Amino acid sequence: MLTFTFYLFIILCCFCNYVMLEGDPGIPAIARYFNTKGRYEEVNPFLTENILAVNRSILQPSSAQCQQIHLTAIIRHGTRYPTTKNIKEMQKLYKIILHNATGEQSWLQEIQTQWKMWYTEEMDGRLVQKGVDDLKHLAIRLSKLFPSMISEEKLRGGLIKFITSSKHRCINSTLSFQAGLTELWNIKDMEFDHAVNDALMRFFDQCARFVQEVEKNPSAVTEVDKFKQGPEMKRVQQKIADRLGVPYNLITDVMADSAFNLCAYEFAIKAVNSPWCQLFDEDDAKVIEYASDLREFWKRGYGHDINSKSSCILFHDLFSRLNKAATENKLGQQVTEAVTVQIGHADTLLPLLTLLGFFKDSDALTSTNYGTHRQRSFRTSNIMPYAANFLLVLYDCGGGDLRLQPMLNEKLVNFPGLTDQQASIPLYQDVREHYRDLLHGCDFETECQLFKNPTEV
Ligand SMILES: *[C@@H]1O[C@H](CO)[C@@H](O)[C@H](O)[C@H]1NC(C)=O
Ligand SMILES: *[C@@H]1O[C@H](CO)[C@@H](O)[C@H](O)[C@H]1NC(C)=O
Ligand SMILES: *[C@@H]1O[C@H](CO)[C@@H](O)[C@H](O)[C@H]1NC(C)=O
Repeated sequence: MLTFTFYLFIILCCFCNYVMLEGDPGIPAIARYFNTKGRYEEVNPFLTENILAVNRSILQPSSAQCQQIHLTAIIRHGTRYPTTKNIKEMQKLYKIILHNATGEQSWLQEIQTQWKMWYTEEMDGRLVQKGVDDLKHLAIRLSKLFPSMISEEKLRGGLIKFITSSKHRCINSTLSFQAGLTELWNIKDMEFDHAVNDALMRFFDQCARFVQEVEKNPSAVTEVDKFKQGPEMKRVQQKIADRLGVPYNLITDVMADSAFNLCAYEFAIKAVNSPWCQLFDEDDAKVIEYASDLREFWKRGYGHDINSKSSCILFHDLFSRLNKAATENKLGQQVTEAVTVQIGHADTLLPLLTLLGFFKDSDALTSTNYGTHRQRSFRTSNIMPYAANFLLVLYDCGGGDLRLQPMLNEKLVNFPGLTDQQASIPLYQDVREHYRDLLHGCDFETECQLFKNPTEV
């Protein structure tokens, strides 16, 4: 009996191993390429086992006397529905598959006979239940990672401040973050408010020069258009048409995108590996991922200088808060804003990370260098999933020694350019020195004003 149990155990173990090597069948093989529509779990895979797991050992301050005195967390909203525009495109693609696809694969039949188009236009980008959970779980993990900062005492004492974009998905994300904490500590006798601040969290709408030169200017993204008309994308469209058994000209680049989005949304929202994912192999996914990164690069990243400069207002807000905390601490006072939680968008975080110099490759992303950018660091699938978060932790290490630790998605990162000098957490003073030019300039009003018409000068 014992031997039988033993062998059963061995067999089960081999089976588990096999499943692990082959990947989890519930997770699409292409789930790591979903850009800003990816699950947070894909950038921290250990969370699929335990969504509340944290690794506190990553936070080893340079000396035992270091104490956290301030934490700023800039967080993207959680998982959301597609926008109305996306949903209309999905409906178009779905009709073609229903009426024109001739392939006989079982996944195709599944789309045609079982899958229902359940997305409706009024869902328009709203937070889904998974998005509520994203923020609740993040709040609980951060309270475990920073127990002296995100604590019941500090929350009750009004030392944790919440600032959000006015978009419903952001407000709901803020409420969800708060609910994560109040449920954790079973707080029923208090409610916590939040400030809506679009000047800070949606600066991209308010920066006139950015709106005119990039957001509303089709020529700002010509590289994206060229790539979408280029050979890599054409090949992906043809492969999709082949798999569906429809003429090549029926599958446009927009439809390829829609099918990819359907796979991504079904997975992020419902946690299912849907038949839509069978339209792509990993090579196809990488091409579509690059097309999206290209767009982010030219609209939010290094493509145009104004993209990052539009975040100057958030940059200064951040450093003035750090300064205030540093000053209060120096005077031996309690830091009045111990924790700041700011909820915004991918469009809030990407320009700020760019301004700070993160994820800069040696060459620009263009329509013709997909091949040489396979190992690029500007990869939104890794940087900006739902609930992506950028944290700055200010430490007092004794003797007036302040240090600043940046983190992205709960992992340590280094300020680009400061890595050589500092094996440990950089001195706050060195960080300020490093960003000296931005601290003395980077004025939102100046950067964002439209150039005057030369005839008026
Ligand atoms: C936690 O982080 C440390 C330091 O980075 C690492 O060595 C360790 O493997 C991590 N532990 C887990 C369980 O991930
Ligand atoms: C797709 O199917 C519809 C409905 O049957 C038909 O009207 C249309 O001509 C078809 N398109 C192509 C390109 O075959
Ligand atoms: C988001 O907030 C609105 C308004 O408070 C509420 O009606 C809606 O149910 C919330 N959605 C989620 C997913 O929590």
